[in-house]
Amino acid sequence: MNCKTPVGKAVPTSVEDIDRAQKELQAVADELRAKARYEDGTEDFALDARANAGVQTIGELMATRIERRSFLKGSAAVAALPVMGASAKLMEQSANAQTSADTLTFSPIEGTDEDGIFVPTGYGWNTILAWGDSLDGTTPSLSNADILAGVHLTEAGAANQANQFGYNCDAAEFFPLPGFGSTGANSGLIAVNHEFPTFGLLFAFGETADASNTLDIRNYASTIEYFDANPGAHQFLRNAMGVAVAEIEKTGNTWSLVAGSAFNRRLTIDTTFRMAGPAAGTDLLQTNASRSGRFVKGTYNNCAAGNTPYGTFLTCEENFDQLFGNFAALEARIGTSTDPDDIRTLEFHRRIAPRDGQSSLGLEGLDTRFDTNIEPREAFRYGWVAEVNPYSPTGTPAKRTALGRFKHECATTITSSDNKLVVYMGDDARYEYVYKFVSTDDVVANDLSQNLGLLDDGTLYAAKFNDDGTGEWLALDYDSQTALQEATIGDTGVALFRNQADVLVGARAAADILGATPMDRPEDVEANPVTSKLYIACTNNTRRTEEGGPQTRQGREVEGAPNIPNPRFSNSFGHVVEVTETGDVNSATTFDWEIFMLCGDPAADNGRFLTQLDDLDETPLQPGDTYFAGFSDASLLPPIGSPDNLSFDNEGNLWIVTDGGQPTGNNNGTFAVPTEGENRGYLRQFMSTATDSEVCGGEFTPDNTTIFLNIQHPGDGGTIGAATSDFPNGNGEEPRPSLIGVYRTDGGVVGS
Ligand code: FEO
Ligand code: CA
Ligand code: CA
Ligand code: CA
Repeated sequence: MNCKTPVGKAVPTSVEDIDRAQKELQAVADELRAKARYEDGTEDFALDARANAGVQTIGELMATRIERRSFLKGSAAVAALPVMGASAKLMEQSANAQTSADTLTFSPIEGTDEDGIFVPTGYGWNTILAWGDSLDGTTPSLSNADILAGVHLTEAGAANQANQFGYNCDAAEFFPLPGFGSTGANSGLIAVNHEFPTFGLLFAFGETADASNTLDIRNYASTIEYFDANPGAHQFLRNAMGVAVAEIEKTGNTWSLVAGSAFNRRLTIDTTFRMAGPAAGTDLLQTNASRSGRFVKGTYNNCAAGNTPYGTFLTCEENFDQLFGNFAALEARIGTSTDPDDIRTLEFHRRIAPRDGQSSLGLEGLDTRFDTNIEPREAFRYGWVAEVNPYSPTGTPAKRTALGRFKHECATTITSSDNKLVVYMGDDARYEYVYKFVSTDDVVANDLSQNLGLLDDGTLYAAKFNDDGTGEWLALDYDSQTALQEATIGDTGVALFRNQADVLVGARAAADILGATPMDRPEDVEANPVTSKLYIACTNNTRRTEEGGPQTRQGREVEGAPNIPNPRFSNSFGHVVEVTETGDVNSATTFDWEIFMLCGDPAADNGRFLTQLDDLDETPLQPGDTYFAGFSDASLLPPIGSPDNLSFDNEGNLWIVTDGGQPTGNNNGTFAVPTEGENRGYLRQFMSTATDSEVCGGEFTPDNTTIFLNIQHPGDGGTIGAATSDFPNGNGEEPRPSLIGVYRTDGGVVGS
């Protein structure tokens, strides 16, 4: 709670001011570095002189860029850099707030199970980046022949992957050039998460036991043994996940990569991150590799994301637990220990448990930090939100511990009307919680150095949804919550939490104790920039049962019956919750809520099409019941299932992308719906995606002329040479997760 920057709140008015502020930040970094040296002369593995914010200054970077490219001429372009401040954004929001008519005028498409991308008449799309595309302009891109030959699994191919667009792109956030806040930009940076590997499409699973075939994982007793024998494959996985930042530029209606841009960057499991905020340096984050507990290598399983009003990328570590193995061995070794540290370590693992035996990727075979029995605390260094400054490609990103540790789906922000930075977050697992963070300090327009400290000092809350349509944000705050101070572990008498750092590392358990509401897999959570209302995508939860009763989920017992905020049992198709913060102030500690949408097929025979909010109080509702914010003409509504990422256009329409089985067997897709006005709830399908892929992202350019969508795991379930999709290249080529841009062929605003 004490990580303020040393810089005052004076508003920089020039690039020189920003440079100066960033240099002051670097001085803090140098000081930290000096302090982290040990008496024996060693130092934390990750420390380097650039270990804090800023690092390469924007001025330096832009000078390089101006030298390299000719279209930016003179100092005027550089002077346009200062970030868009909160007040500017709020002014824009308030100007838009007058809009209430239905601004969605595109002709909806019909859902389909056909492979490919389908968009409305008058729209086009193009592939911007595909798995294996070279980012640095010198590394070769991965060809289709390379994939079939397993070049990506060789040591040379694996090394190349660190300079290529990675696998299974998820979040997409756009940062315009020359600076955040630019509108109508024809160039910008796209920050993308690469979530996880799809083994079947990366490793051939041949039936023959040909020991010379290094692609045939079945020749080995375990994934670990395979990686021991094939270190290139191991290194490939390390490089295929993480984050990519790439410069893209627009020609006509289409965006394409600027190969070799100084901004282009990959962050992988080997990239150094700084731990920042209240839990940085706490003993639970200290390992043999990082004795200070202030640095960690890597980010992994990053799913959705967010951006801040000052132009940084918030990347979210989600299913990181699957990286860690041998938890059963740790339990066997220290399970009867009476040492409070051992008891607490095991307890903190139980709510996000590593794998008992081999992890899903088997990385522990060559890297023992993923072996929980050898390095019991390494997993505590994952499950955070990391802040990356895309405009500073050599900067050290920071994991912001004040935002808590859980399976972060997203971290979306809004500047509240009282000028706080508010971050909304979902924890994507069955019966997990919705969180928000509210900064202590105000967002200050055009003061990057001030704003870069906002995520280190504030209050983390978990949501409690009352059955009467009210709700409250429960502060996960050790100092003010007696229940957190008094919690003990089982009958050991050992305190569960000793301080706020423990509360943040064990955020799920803290939310349990305070009585947060377990939800049906809360994925993306996003505030409407026009109305400031919050929307929560609960993607599905088939484990809720009509009869109810206790269930053991995520290491604790929960009630499995439907309730008012999660009203259906066997919830295969998910729902969207709408939250109105008290006074429309996003930093408020109370709220009202209602169901916005019960997804499914409104024409299905096995459920009711509900049109009155009161109908939703008759829990449990049937699995086939649907509701579209009161919209009453079922014949106009498409089937939809498993809402995942949410976004808003400048008019405040909600855009939804899906990830999961669709009610009538269609492929996943992109949908749009007004949240206000007479057509509130009138959902329309905008796009259909490649077979066996999910759609991620849904990010608009500031002028709304392009929507960026990530097509993740096309062809999932197939194998190399026998995939169910040949997206994006067609012609029977191997499928590749890819970023696409969808635009109106006349260059107009998407959706309208
Ligand atoms: Fe990675 Fe929750 O989807
Ligand atoms: Ca997701
Ligand atoms: Ca979103
Ligand atoms: Ca999902």
